[in-house]
Amino acid sequence: MQYVIKGGIPLVGDVVIGGAKNAALGILAAAIMADEDVTVENLPDVRDINVLLEAIEEIGASVYRLDEHTVRINGSGIHTIRVNGDFIKRIRASYYLLGALLGKYRKAEVSLPGGCNIGSRPIDQHLKGFRSLGARTEIEHGMVVAEAAFLHGGHIYLDVVSVGATINIMLAAALAEGSTILENAAKEPHVVDVANMLNSMGANIKGAGTDVIRIKGVPKLHGTVYSIIPDQIEAGTFMFAAAVTKGDVTVKNVIPRHLEAISAKLMEMGCEVVEFDDAVRVVCKSRLRYTNVKTLPYPGFPTDMQPQISVALSLAEGTSMVTESIFENRFKYVDELARMGAQIKVEGNVAVINGVGRLMGADVSAPDLRAGAALVLAGLAADGHTVVDETKYILRGYERFDEKLRSLGACIFQAEDEKDIQRLKLEAV
Ligand code: EPZ
Repeated sequence: MQYVIKGGIPLVGDVVIGGAKNAALGILAAAIMADEDVTVENLPDVRDINVLLEAIEEIGASVYRLDEHTVRINGSGIHTIRVNGDFIKRIRASYYLLGALLGKYRKAEVSLPGGCNIGSRPIDQHLKGFRSLGARTEIEHGMVVAEAAFLHGGHIYLDVVSVGATINIMLAAALAEGSTILENAAKEPHVVDVANMLNSMGANIKGAGTDVIRIKGVPKLHGTVYSIIPDQIEAGTFMFAAAVTKGDVTVKNVIPRHLEAISAKLMEMGCEVVEFDDAVRVVCKSRLRYTNVKTLPYPGFPTDMQPQISVALSLAEGTSMVTESIFENRFKYVDELARMGAQIKVEGNVAVINGVGRLMGADVSAPDLRAGAALVLAGLAADGHTVVDETKYILRGYERFDEKLRSLGACIFQAEDEKDIQRLKLEAV
């Protein structure tokens, strides 16, 4: 499937942001650790979430959708600790089932994770954490095996700040015997959300949101009803959509504190950003200005917003430098953006961007989730028609992306084939 976009229309209006995908993935894994009903609210209806729900169902947990954004999970029927569906290899967060199953059953076997190809993405820190809790870890025939006769507390110092390892270790340690101290932990809002969710199930986790997390293991977890925090990256993407189209967009149902790094950059670039209790309004009236940015773990500028800010900077006045310090392979969209007239030179993990006055519509292909969203933003800002191919990546993490953009006035439609594309190009005058 492709998106056909007619660019050049300023986006104006309100958009409601959904639940955080990357929090939801940890939370769904946590949900199977109880043998009682766990109701998860504000769940985004995106592909990665639905794949994880399938995996959870396949091992015997019951998954009952109360509505599009609410699911009730009960882990009492789990009959295997082996997660090996083909589908699970397609998402990164399958690795959270390792921590959840290891904590609950003291053994887990999960296919090596897939996910967006944005770098080598090792899981050594996850495994190091499990080993500190007394588990044996092995890679056997493409499966990660973790097993512990006695799962106990441990003292772990992460060598790199990792969201995934922090969440995974919290999951397993929640049901280990004794206390765990996790140092150099990730501080992202979704780490805090997973900790809050586990605590609402009876876990004893303190310090999430700081770089030292203390977990006192408890014998079992109980049912809960939990609502996921808003998605910081979906919100940030719409904020940048306003900026690149010289629009006026209010993103609603957000936690403005989680968006501070994004808001600060938009202001440096000349946008007006107004914060409300649970909304942020971005107004952009004139040409954007250059800035420099380096991606960093939270509260730094998120790597998941790097392609979106690069699109904005490719239209800004002056020369900007974007340094990607988290993933080594996250500039793959640059060649696509060059087809639209952007002037970007990548050397190692730095992109030097010479802002151009305008981008021109072109046929481009999404290399991964966030880069795909960024190419859509480029299309919305460009003159003429842009066709973004491989939209399947975008659907991993954005719910009704095109529909939400249309509600802000954008001209963007889904096409199934070449005939559709031609028809839409003619219609979307
Ligand atoms: C999570 O990936 C997110 N994915 C990513 O979101 C996000 O880009 C990333 O965190 C950083 O914020 C999910 O939550 C499912 P990391 P994760 O472990 O957990 C290195 C999106 O677009 N590292 O924090 O895989 C790693 O190579 C996606 O929604 C190790 O060396 O990221 C990277 O350089 C894409 N060893 C750095 O740490 C390990 O064991 C941070 O990775 C683990 C990580």
